[in-house]
Amino acid sequence: MQIASELSRHDADLTDAYPTRADLAGGGWYRSVNPARTSEVVAEVALGDAGTFVAACRAARAAQRGWAGVPAPVRGRAVGYAGRIVEANAEALARLVTTEVGKPYAEALGEVREIIDTCDFFVGEGRRLYGETVPSEMPDKQLFTFRNPVGVVAVVTAGNFPVAVPSWYLVPALLTGNAVVWKPAEYAAASAHALYRMFVRAGLPDGVLQLVLADGATTFDGLSAALDAGLVDKVGFTGSTAVGTAIGELCGRHLQSPCLELGGKNPMVVTPSAPLDLAVEGALFAGFGTAGQRCTSLGTVIVHESRHDELLARFSAAVETAPVGEPTAPVLMGPLLEQRFADRFEEYLGWIGPHHKVSGSTAIGRITRDQPRAGFVGDPSEGLYYHPTIVDGLRPDDALFRHETFGPIVGVTTYRTLDEAIELANAPGYGLSSSIYTTDPTDVFAFRTGISAGMVSINNSTSGAEAHLPFGGNGRSGNGSRQSGRWVLDQFTRWQAVNWDYSGRLQKAQMDVAELTADLDFRL
Ligand code: UN1
Repeated sequence: MQIASELSRHDADLTDAYPTRADLAGGGWYRSVNPARTSEVVAEVALGDAGTFVAACRAARAAQRGWAGVPAPVRGRAVGYAGRIVEANAEALARLVTTEVGKPYAEALGEVREIIDTCDFFVGEGRRLYGETVPSEMPDKQLFTFRNPVGVVAVVTAGNFPVAVPSWYLVPALLTGNAVVWKPAEYAAASAHALYRMFVRAGLPDGVLQLVLADGATTFDGLSAALDAGLVDKVGFTGSTAVGTAIGELCGRHLQSPCLELGGKNPMVVTPSAPLDLAVEGALFAGFGTAGQRCTSLGTVIVHESRHDELLARFSAAVETAPVGEPTAPVLMGPLLEQRFADRFEEYLGWIGPHHKVSGSTAIGRITRDQPRAGFVGDPSEGLYYHPTIVDGLRPDDALFRHETFGPIVGVTTYRTLDEAIELANAPGYGLSSSIYTTDPTDVFAFRTGISAGMVSINNSTSGAEAHLPFGGNGRSGNGSRQSGRWVLDQFTRWQAVNWDYSGRLQKAQMDVAELTADLDFRL
């Protein structure tokens, strides 16, 4: 087992197999804290430097050929074992995720389920990884296609889904015969380390999976150096549009196309025929589940003007009465992920203007003893808790309308015609998830055709993608890459075209091809 930085945690259960301090490479220390109780340190992590990242890529390179030589069905078994180990540890892992990033426990369990689902899907893929036999245009010649692993995959992930989203990269990349260097979010270091430990115990040979802990800027430098040294063949990144753009530029210089899963400003269109109860339930879950910090979180409700008042009243009432607080309790939302997300969320709240009408809670901003939230579960002063906020009256030129606002805030605006709704839905230029609530099938197909998003829900919220459909976005949400299901195989393999001529002579394609005589002037 290899680990490229040290993690020390106030929990004996997580301390096995940590390298000694002597292995440290000088990126400083980072304290991962419980966002529901910021005085509680979950993990103290020693970060690596750019050289640590490069060394991990070099070690991965050394291990990759051997792993690619393991038959794919056997690699599939490793993925199957990983899924079983995760399943056997599901509650412990979910508890850790809740403790480290403040995700309500029920959602954390769902997140763990998503890893198991991903492993289940890819066990069988180890026995498929189909290539094709293709007829040749000449006799005594056969054509084939094979999928080859790309080589070393560098994966950089966010902490809002600290274990499920990484598994979307790790599982298919490993299954297809790649070695992986994984750099998780520092503020989710303990969750990442737990997943890493489970995966290496699935029988992966040494070096095939490397965990590197480092800050963002250092990771970028390390990645750049590793690409220069020819040690990385594919980059997978989940995070902000700004960082994804920088990674795209970097990879482009190396003629590589990264797998990018970036932000979203996911619209929900509520039509005149919409089942409103369902729409409100969907808006509540997608807007405020994970405290609005999913990349699939609801950005703006675009409601037909005839349903606006009723929708807003019902949505506001649902948000006002939803339980907020301690994430180990059955709440709708817990704290924000980490201090930097709280700071950024405060900036977004500054975008609320005089023409907006705010609802959803008893105040705006941080939940404190002075700014209490009715029905709060626990003590708000201990954690990074924010009032859920609905902002009505958004205009297309508002910053709140145009930009992703990671956190518990949902905008509302109105439309008159479906074309106008689709235009509003596409206007911010993202294109990850989207939804429409309607009972009119003609709305469904017009929306599906017109929306720029990679994912479309009908009478379902923008969140809640199943783990075996293509996941990904367009525009500011990504470069068109897709994760999950069979579609992700194209990220981690390259097609190789093979032709085998056993005629014993040089048969030249396009030139030595038999001609048939057709009577093309024939008419009935
Ligand atoms: C993410 O926010 O990066 O569809 C992933 C969903 C989850 C995955 C979200 N299954 O909301």
